[in-house]
Amino acid sequence: MPIGVFDSGLGGLTVLGALQNALPGQAFVYLGDHAHAPYGARSAPEILDLTMAACGLLFARGCDLVILACNTASSVALKPMQEYFVTADKRVLGVFVPVIEVLAGRAWADRAAPTIAPVNDVLFFATPATVRSGAFSREVALRTSNVRIVEVPCPGLVDALETDAQADAARIVRTCTAQGLAQMPTPEVTVLGCTHYPLMQTQFAAALPPGTRTLSQPRAVADALCDYLARHPRFAGGGGQTYLTTGHAGPVTRAALALTGRDLVFRTV
Ligand code: DGL
Repeated sequence: MPIGVFDSGLGGLTVLGALQNALPGQAFVYLGDHAHAPYGARSAPEILDLTMAACGLLFARGCDLVILACNTASSVALKPMQEYFVTADKRVLGVFVPVIEVLAGRAWADRAAPTIAPVNDVLFFATPATVRSGAFSREVALRTSNVRIVEVPCPGLVDALETDAQADAARIVRTCTAQGLAQMPTPEVTVLGCTHYPLMQTQFAAALPPGTRTLSQPRAVADALCDYLARHPRFAGGGGQTYLTTGHAGPVTRAALALTGRDLVFRTV
């Protein structure tokens, strides 16, 4: 059975690449909602509606398990969707949980009182909608008693990347990193809390103090999915790789090549 991987655009390919490396035999259907990207500047109700529509498309393609490879959708839409949209035979998982488990050093389901995490100071970069949701800091605070987080919105960065405006993207990274460091000059760990941002990993690293560790969300999600499939083998299955977009297939295919260096052929859904 194919596993659906959803993002507003091409950023989710950073997660998909890690999933494909970790699970070489697994079939995946990737969907980018280019007709409505970027999500980061949208309201919460809009993000919820769009995410439900996208998951509906992936369910209709036979994906009973969908990964929201989009922090904006994960932070805003996942909880309400799990409450009243996802039926018992389907599963939708987000990309926040695995990162928070690694950061907190404990399992998500552990309901014990907050504990001391192995890290203190965390700089978190994300879209304006993700930062506005407060979900990341809230969930970390439920599990840890010592982690200080500075959340930095990076408006315009997703747009710049989707349009391959590399100079603009690099400028936004420098500006946002400077804003973050003004509040937390020596972070131990940085989390790139938007799946597009690992595409600028080198630029983020260059702008951060040497020795700042980046917690890799794609790797955390891949490890978590391997573990999940071992416990729920009914969602696993072989087959090919499919790349879908709600936008125009030609430009999206070209943009994917420019951004990731991978020759992925998108079809319009
Ligand atoms: N890749 C999405 C995320 O992880 C980008 C959201 C957007 O479209 O602004 O948040």
